[in-house]
Amino acid sequence: MSYLNQIDPKRVPQHVAIIMDGNGRWAKSKGQPRSAGHQAGVKSLHETLRGAKEAGVKYLTVYTFSTENWNRPRQEVETLMNLMVWAIEQETPGMIENGVSLQVIGDMDRLPENTRQRLQKCIGDTAAGQVITLILAISYSSRWEIARAARELAAEVRDGKISPEAITEELLSSRLTTVRYPDPDLLIRTGGEVRVSNYLLWQIAYAELYFCDTYWPEFGPEDLYKAIVEYQSRERRFGKTSEQVSDETK
Ligand code: IPE
Ligand code: IPE
Ligand code: MG
Repeated sequence: MSYLNQIDPKRVPQHVAIIMDGNGRWAKSKGQPRSAGHQAGVKSLHETLRGAKEAGVKYLTVYTFSTENWNRPRQEVETLMNLMVWAIEQETPGMIENGVSLQVIGDMDRLPENTRQRLQKCIGDTAAGQVITLILAISYSSRWEIARAARELAAEVRDGKISPEAITEELLSSRLTTVRYPDPDLLIRTGGEVRVSNYLLWQIAYAELYFCDTYWPEFGPEDLYKAIVEYQSRERRFGKTSEQVSDETK
């Protein structure tokens, strides 16, 4: 039986964030170059997006390329940038057809011109999508975005536009790249590592964390459904007591 049938449609996580890890190790285990793992990872994303839509998830944010990934060998960085262009071209018509809206978070200024242009074109072409928002975190890291927000707010204080007292959690959140999305409810990391690698640190304050050993190229809808079922078995207390939470849901 599919895990999909075990999902309570009333408590589907609105926003799922994924750290798509393990492409290189998957390829190595098959005696293939790392690039083959990245290529296979595109299909996993396609399938997982389909699964997320099927389950009723509204936002899917995927860690595609971190700020730290710029330190990988030049050849691998180039492969990844080219793969993104290829994948976007390949996927745009299907995204439009399926009501997927593409968004990007991260330092787009660091991307090669053609990668940035392709991304921007796809964002425009899919802007009307209402079913699910796919957010690619590219050249993204939390420390980058938090430092950037702090700089912006500091400049506004300096210019007398706001007072230091006006800086609240909400104001800081509004200067992050994720301003238009709710915080993730569920964070999944594939590939066996148990860390968050500078991903959405502010936003996952109360997300449920789910780690699995499956390498990203082998991950698909069933694995996502399984994670959602596990998510639904957890009690999200947000600092309250279990009794308070069960009173609230009565
Ligand atoms: C994730 O897979 C993809 C990116 C980070 C771009 P990796 O390339 O990190 O694969 P492993 O972790 O080396 O197996
Ligand atoms: C995190 O994976 C970044 C992406 C999945 C894009 P990494 O493979 O770069 O993370 P570390 O280096 O193992 O922490
Ligand atoms: Mg990795």
